[in-house]
Amino acid sequence: MSEAVAGAVAERFTQLYGAEPEGVWAAPGRVNLIGEHTDYNDGFVMPFALPHTAVAAVSRREDGVLRLHSADIDAGVVELRVADLAPESDKNWTAYPSGVVWALREAGHEVTGADIHLASTVPSGAGLSSSAALEVVIALALNDLYALGLRGWQLARLCQRAENVYVGAPVGIMDQTAAACCEAGHALFLDTRDLSQRQIPFDLAAEGMRLLVVDTQVKHSHSEGEYGKRRAGCEKGAALLGVDALRDVPYAELDAALERLGDEEEVRRLVRHVVTEDERVERVVALLESGDTRAIGPVLAEGHASLRDDFRISCPELDLVVDTALASGALGARMTGGGFGGSAIVLTEAADVDAVTKAVEEAFAAAGFTAPRVFEAVPSAGARRIR
Ligand code: GLA
Repeated sequence: MSEAVAGAVAERFTQLYGAEPEGVWAAPGRVNLIGEHTDYNDGFVMPFALPHTAVAAVSRREDGVLRLHSADIDAGVVELRVADLAPESDKNWTAYPSGVVWALREAGHEVTGADIHLASTVPSGAGLSSSAALEVVIALALNDLYALGLRGWQLARLCQRAENVYVGAPVGIMDQTAAACCEAGHALFLDTRDLSQRQIPFDLAAEGMRLLVVDTQVKHSHSEGEYGKRRAGCEKGAALLGVDALRDVPYAELDAALERLGDEEEVRRLVRHVVTEDERVERVVALLESGDTRAIGPVLAEGHASLRDDFRISCPELDLVVDTALASGALGARMTGGGFGGSAIVLTEAADVDAVTKAVEEAFAAAGFTAPRVFEAVPSAGARRIR
């Protein structure tokens, strides 16, 4: 499969630039199983990679020119000079790949230009990290071609910097690390404080279960302010509690911490979500490692309630997916990603997939919502060279 994709992307590159690419790379989108809005609080997350990928055919250049083309956006070849790249100067899709070139150069790596053709199957605006996939595929390609010797987590850090500073979106480190470091058949248990990782075997099919992704088709965008407000609220909470990050508030001391926050109602809710969410990640890891996979369902549902009621980043469409899935027999369900739209995940017995899917589709039709896109997610490989 990836050989055919690599061949097609390489062929288009050759048409565009008149020579074959030096190589072709792929990086996946992700869903997050549990651990939402914990990454910028130094907490725990647990994403896994989707089979959907951003694919890039790339060749080096030595003349300081960066040429970018996307199969998915009708904008022709965009030509830039690497020396001119500057933060927040670009509001188009090209900001993601050029932001990575900028971040690599800023970090002292001599990247002297590139010809790039990109094609992605990661749905954009669906909360499935299409931007991180774009960033990481470029970072990995340039890492290989320019022999920079950077590890996956280092590429993730550079991509996050590209997105924070160059694109101007205040995201955490989860999505880039997922794209760079996930492994097929596993979920990635990541401590976002020091980026230490554990690959947790996650083979639902072998246990007669499935994980569905329900894209509500409600578009979200992280630069639009609400994400940044939540992040600032969490930082305020940490400051009021005298800790470096909310990760440092032990779950056992949550009640005392909430008491100390007094009448800071908004901050109290944010703190409660983050501290309980870190505990939920640890609980899910323990359940998976002890083989009690079905028992993670209720933990996912708890996580959704916390995001809806305390963190307040759900929306009617996401709530409808979760409520309908649970009512029609799913083991668990929650929104995934940044929120305000995008996708939900549903954990279900394999035998119930059709019934749950039908129930969600009918509920959306009855509510007058745009039909959702439902697909099964199998934990897939992280970023890699495919040619
Ligand atoms: C977005 C961000 C991540 C993370 C999630 C919420 O996907 O890019 O860094 O904060 O939202 O968990």
